[in-house]
Amino acid sequence: MERKDNFIRRQLSTKSRLVQAPMLGVTTPEMVAAANDAGALGSLALGDLAPATCEQLIRATKKLTERPFAVNLFSHHIPLLTGDLRIQYNRTKDFLERLAAEQQLEVVFPEADDLQFTDYRDQLDVIIEEGCRLLSVTFGCLDPVSIDRLKDEGVVLMGTCTSVEEALHLQRIGMDIIIVQGIEAGGHRGSFLGGRYPQIGGLSLLSQVRDHVDTPLIYAGGVYGGRTAKAAHLLGADAVQVGSMLLCSRESALLPFEKEQLRRTKETDVVLTDTFTGRPARGLRNAFVDLLQDSGYVLPYPYQNKLTQPLRQIAKLQQNAGLINIWRGQSSPQFSEASTKEILLGLSADIDSFPTNENQ
Ligand SMILES: Cc1cc2nc3c(=O)[nH]c(=O)nc-3n(C[C@H](O)[C@H](O)[C@H](O)COP(=O)(O)O)c2cc1C
Repeated sequence: MERKDNFIRRQLSTKSRLVQAPMLGVTTPEMVAAANDAGALGSLALGDLAPATCEQLIRATKKLTERPFAVNLFSHHIPLLTGDLRIQYNRTKDFLERLAAEQQLEVVFPEADDLQFTDYRDQLDVIIEEGCRLLSVTFGCLDPVSIDRLKDEGVVLMGTCTSVEEALHLQRIGMDIIIVQGIEAGGHRGSFLGGRYPQIGGLSLLSQVRDHVDTPLIYAGGVYGGRTAKAAHLLGADAVQVGSMLLCSRESALLPFEKEQLRRTKETDVVLTDTFTGRPARGLRNAFVDLLQDSGYVLPYPYQNKLTQPLRQIAKLQQNAGLINIWRGQSSPQFSEASTKEILLGLSADIDSFPTNENQ
């Protein structure tokens, strides 16, 4: 097998130096393969999906592309549901039941004792068995035993940071690549240290992380064209990761009404909210956000996520945009419906059209 450091260098020196962002609920095997076809690095989002589902998705992706792709999962800590948190869970469930009844939606919310979670270590078994060569994680870092195990298997490890402190931590525990996520980014904050959610803008964060670590960096947040990608390269990114640009692409799993909603929104309707999942995420403000913000009915992640999930699933079936989460970042791309390959090749050409000389 090719040496790991050569492999990393080659992955990050693809002509475009682009990474297709893993986006749970949006990314499909077809999107990952199309990104690979464009010369970018495709990333398959596995979030907290059950190991059997992870296996199916990885196998489906392998059928569509021969090139390596990254898999991505949530490596978070799950607080115990006891004491006050359990009382709060039941109060929030009652509140959501009343909301569903008012909206005439028949929703069965899970009882606290019926909740099921995926341990990321079980997902790792599948990732290793399937021979995945790159793994990115968000919401946390991996435990030392898993890191050793993955390193022994030659898997390239990528962790997400939202502060310099988190970047230093990821470097210290031996991550091969650090994904630097600016506050502009669509979707969840990948933060994991100190129980806080840093809100540092990409310009400040990327430049300062570059000053402090020598690990290869991928920048994520607000990249929507050649100029923004080039700016990230100048600030020290070895590659850039794009998510929002691909939300309406042909291979996106979003439904037509969600794509329409994305196109209609004004930039001022894009907010950071923890109301859907209990972890701040950037997306469209709607009736649900307005109702729950500051309501006292927001549980910590992943409980809010598990509790609101059945409501969101039914609202989605009914095309009710007021009750579902639609994530997107601060930059407003064209939300093109072209293929992922075309969008990424276009971005690549746009990057090339900017002068490479930093003084120009
Ligand atoms: C719909 C959506 C879902 C996302 N899901 C994930 C995910 O599953 N794992 C992850 O590491 N990042 C996820 N992200 C964050 C992206 O990896 C990336 O940081 C972000 O899209 C970059 O900002 P941009 O949207 O402005 O391009 C998601 C982003 C969006 C928009």
